[in-house]
Order: sequence, then C-alpha cells, then structure tokens
Amino acid sequence: MKKRPLVAGNWKMELSHKSAIEVMRAIKKLLSTMTVECDIVVCPSYPSLEAISAMTKKGFPLAVGAQTIHAAERGAYTGEVSAVQIRPFVEWCIVGHSEVRSMRGETEEQINQSAELLLRHGIIPIVCIGETGEEREHDQTVEKITTQINILLNHLDRTSLTKTVLAYEPIWAIGTGVTPDPDQVAEVVLLIRKLTADRFAQDVADRLRILYGGSVTPENVSQYVGGPVADGVLVGGASTHPRSFVDIIKKVQETFR
Ligand code: PGA
Repeated sequence: MKKRPLVAGNWKMELSHKSAIEVMRAIKKLLSTMTVECDIVVCPSYPSLEAISAMTKKGFPLAVGAQTIHAAERGAYTGEVSAVQIRPFVEWCIVGHSEVRSMRGETEEQINQSAELLLRHGIIPIVCIGETGEEREHDQTVEKITTQINILLNHLDRTSLTKTVLAYEPIWAIGTGVTPDPDQVAEVVLLIRKLTADRFAQDVADRLRILYGGSVTPENVSQYVGGPVADGVLVGGASTHPRSFVDIIKKVQETFR
C-alpha cells in the first residue's frame, strides 16, 4: 500500500514573527518551482499561526500546525492555549514533544487527552514518543516505546488512530547532531506497527504514518525514510532554513518515488 510521505517542520521558538513570515515566503517560492508529492506541514509559534496560515492556499500541499496545546479544552490556565483557540488556523498539531514533556512535566495521560481533543476538533495530532539516551544505554528502548504506545492505544479507537501521526524521536538525537542507525529506527517503527496490529489489525498498522525526528538534515534524511523505516520526518533546526527544508522534502520524495 502506497502512503503519502509527510515532512513536518517544527520551528520551535527560533524565529521572530517577521522571520517566520520570511521563511514561509521563501519555502513557498522554492516549492512553487517543483512538483510536490508529499504532505508538508510547518509549525510556527502561536503568535504567527494566523499570519502563516493566511499564506497557505487551499489545494497547495503546505499546511500549518501548532507546536503543542493544553490537555484541557478551556479554563483557568494562564498562559496556556487550547485546541479550540488554534482551530481556526491549523490543520495539525504536535503533542508530546520531549521539550514540552520536560518543561511542563506532561504525563502520557495528558498527552493522549490532548491528542483526543485535537481529533475532536478536526486537527491531526503528531504524537511524539522516544527514549532518553540513558534508556537506550540500558536497553530499555523497547520497554519505553511499548509503554508509550500501549497507553496511546488505550485512548484511541481504530478510526482515531488512522487519523493520527506518530513521530519517533529518540530524545538523545534531538538538536544534538547525534543520529541513530537506520536499523535502530526501523526496529522501533516495526515495534509500533506490531503493537498496533496486535491491538487492532494489520491494515490499521500498515496505514499508520510514522515519522522519524532528531537532527534530520538533507544529507542524512534518505536513510530514515521509505521501506521498513519511516513514512516521513519531523524536522527541527533544519526546517527554519528554507533551502535545507526544501532539500529534505526533495530527498524524501526521491526515496518514495
Ligand atoms: P532537530 O529537532 O531536528 O533540531 O533535532 C527535532 C525536533 O525537535 O522535532
């Protein structure tokens, strides 16, 4: 079964509003000179969501996502942002990013509540999971991923799961320039599919889009996508550089052709 690859860019807190608009403009210009054969998402900070979303056109395969939301729909949560508030501007939203997990002490339950909330509002969640360097060293990767996926599978029904995207991001590879072997990524992707097939069915597992994230560059991306590895990538640092981001998109497309 052929799946459409996905390339998502997480701009984190790297760009001013003005720079975000300039980066978006440059990405659009580069994309307009090529055939786009994958889904592309950019995730700016909240204050830029409206402006960046106004720069996307219906039918053009470049959509906007947010970087996180609060697990509650509304309420007395000073400084937080909910699914309802981002809904006019985004089609996607990252949840469970390791930086948010460590800053806010988010639990798996809260992350899964956020994913459910997003789905209820018609926004596609990109749920991040992954092990720390210490867990990898102590051979606890399988255990960690199994726990995270099983909690997710307890929350989502079959239909919700087919609308969800997972991102495997080994925490030790994020922003470090240290990257896993493709075999290590393939092992985790296969594990996620197996756990999903055991809970639901093989076709649900096959349809699930799983991304790899962590120090992705145009030079290393090809080894992480296609075949037994991932269906796309979640890019941090390189996604704020239009040329690199678009080169990553081209490499992903070549791999899937
Ligand atoms: P990185 O970030 O590409 O800068 O390592 C990835 C991420 O945080 O999703």
